Amino acid sequence: FMSHIHSFMSLIFIHLYHLYSFIYICVEGNIASGKTTCLKYFGKTNNIEVLTEPVSKWKNVHGHNPLALMYQDPARWGITLQTYVQLTMLVNHLSCPSTSLKMMERSIFSAKHIFVENLFRSGRMPAVDYAVLTEWFDWITTNISIPVDLIVYLQTTPETCYQRLKHRCREEESAISLDYLESIHQLYEDWLVKRTYAALPAPVLVIPGDHDLQKMLQLYEENRNTIFSACSS
Ligand SMILES: *[C@@H]1O[C@H](CO)[C@@H](O)[C@H](O)[C@H]1NC(C)=O
Repeated sequence: FMSHIHSFMSLIFIHLYHLYSFIYICVEGNIASGKTTCLKYFGKTNNIEVLTEPVSKWKNVHGHNPLALMYQDPARWGITLQTYVQLTMLVNHLSCPSTSLKMMERSIFSAKHIFVENLFRSGRMPAVDYAVLTEWFDWITTNISIPVDLIVYLQTTPETCYQRLKHRCREEESAISLDYLESIHQLYEDWLVKRTYAALPAPVLVIPGDHDLQKMLQLYEENRNTIFSACSS
């Protein structure tokens, strides 16, 4: 299994390195799937620029907190937050990397295909709001070139995410249920694994995310070496 990942990553990175001078990677996964650990691990090395989700912006736009409003009343404030998420994600995608490799936490694609989709399907976003967001998304992704070379998908079961959530006590996450995590998981699986809906912007590397910290770091270490050897070859 490890050698499969290894050779797959080598191929991708060597190929990409010779095509472009920059490599753009998005790390995708459920809430508490292990993205932060993954990004922190890679962020420790100075060849990689890490862009975490711009949550602080979502909590303060000119003194307003659209993230908190959305959790209070999704039907009213979902479009407000998601419009801002779409803008701030686009800004992250288009920011020039200071290194040859940029790693982003999630993407404009998962914002739409996972989180907006879930709000709409669960009946917490009016159809008109969904239609407006969809037109924005289609316009942006059709008319603006958004470079993504690889999606790293941390495939963690909703049960594991739920256990991790309970341990980390982030204020705005306190109301997140196992049901919610299961819906998000299902959408991620349909999009990135079963590929039954929405186009993929890049190849997908699936990393199983249920392991303990030590084993996850081991897995990342394998990938890190592959990235570096490809980038310096
Ligand atoms: C892309 O931009 C052009 C020009 O504004 C517009 O006509 C077209 O509808 C846009 N594409 C999408 C999918 O919105």
